Amino acid sequence: MFKVAVIGGSGLLGRAIVQELNAQSGWAVSATAFRRAWPGLTALDIRDSKSVDRFIDDTRPDAIVIAAAERRPDICEHEPLVARALNVDAVRAIANAARRCGAWTLSISTDYVFDGSRPPYLPADPPHPINAYGTSKLEGERALMEASTSSCVLRLPLLYGPIVDWQESAVTSLVPAIAASASGLPDGKTAVMDAWATRYPTYTPDVAVLIRQLLERRLQGVPVCGVTHWSGDEPMTKYDIALSIASALGIQARISPQHHPTDATPRPRDCHLDSSTLDAMGLGQRTSFAVAIKKTLDAFPWQGSAGLDGG
Ligand SMILES: NC(=O)c1ccc[n+]([C@@H]2O[C@H](COP(=O)([O-])OP(=O)(O)OC[C@H]3O[C@@H](n4cnc5c(N)ncnc54)[C@H](OP(=O)(O)O)[C@@H]3O)[C@@H](O)[C@H]2O)c1
Repeated sequence: MFKVAVIGGSGLLGRAIVQELNAQSGWAVSATAFRRAWPGLTALDIRDSKSVDRFIDDTRPDAIVIAAAERRPDICEHEPLVARALNVDAVRAIANAARRCGAWTLSISTDYVFDGSRPPYLPADPPHPINAYGTSKLEGERALMEASTSSCVLRLPLLYGPIVDWQESAVTSLVPAIAASASGLPDGKTAVMDAWATRYPTYTPDVAVLIRQLLERRLQGVPVCGVTHWSGDEPMTKYDIALSIASALGIQARISPQHHPTDATPRPRDCHLDSSTLDAMGLGQRTSFAVAIKKTLDAFPWQGSAGLDGG
């Protein structure tokens, strides 16, 4: 039995990983959550290193995937201690416990470790985060590699996929404004969308397949270590994403582009991650944005007429 622990199994990415790994025969998956410890998930606060030790001693995993984090840039900017506790100290605690029990660890990081001025970025390119989120995730990467050089960091860009709440992803969080802008609404306002920063929206079920493949290689004894990159291959601004969402929803939305950055928290312009190493290994899959966003929206329908009527 190959035992895998998924830390953060209740999150946007964690849920997709748990679903993918649970489908493998001969694999035993134990997943944790914090606030959303639904049946089947173990409640664990990763800021409590004793609880982390206990969880890892009890489950004795062969591999650990860390998908828990504070991933909201604005929260990290205003509450750096919160960001540090989750994105750095907790990663270190998990990595140390993993080393003691001989588990291999894969931790998820972000394209925001780069400043976005010279894309595309190779894993060896020097990071230069411009906000507290990117800084904390970079420190978390370093904490992981200090604990064990056989660990792996997987950097990812903007994620979207099956949701339980519109705000779970910066892609689906656009839906309410897009729907509210639909022409014909009495109070329909134009939705202004960023057309300055280029993003590479990446579908969580595709990432889950990649992580399963990396775990399989590890199980076969192939070393999987160091920093690696994976990314969707469709460059899109939020304006482009909004147009695509409106088309998937079949609505005549009023969307206008914003050509300069307006976010209070600085965000990089284009952090395209070069995924050629994993591509050359034949790993991963990429579902087109048009197909994946349609699936995502179909599975979590906008409250149809209620939403479009402003309800
Ligand atoms: N979302 C993106 O666009 C994006 C882009 C690039 C990289 N990433 C990285 O991808 C990874 C997954 O992100 P995500 O979008 O799936 O995040 P998410 O949806 O916000 O999920 C965060 C997870 O962390 C758990 N968590 C929060 N506080 C915790 C605590 N004190 N103890 C234990 N668990 C705690 C949450 O549990 P509960 O929900 O149960 O509280 C949840 O399972 C993160 O490393 C993130 O930095 C995300």
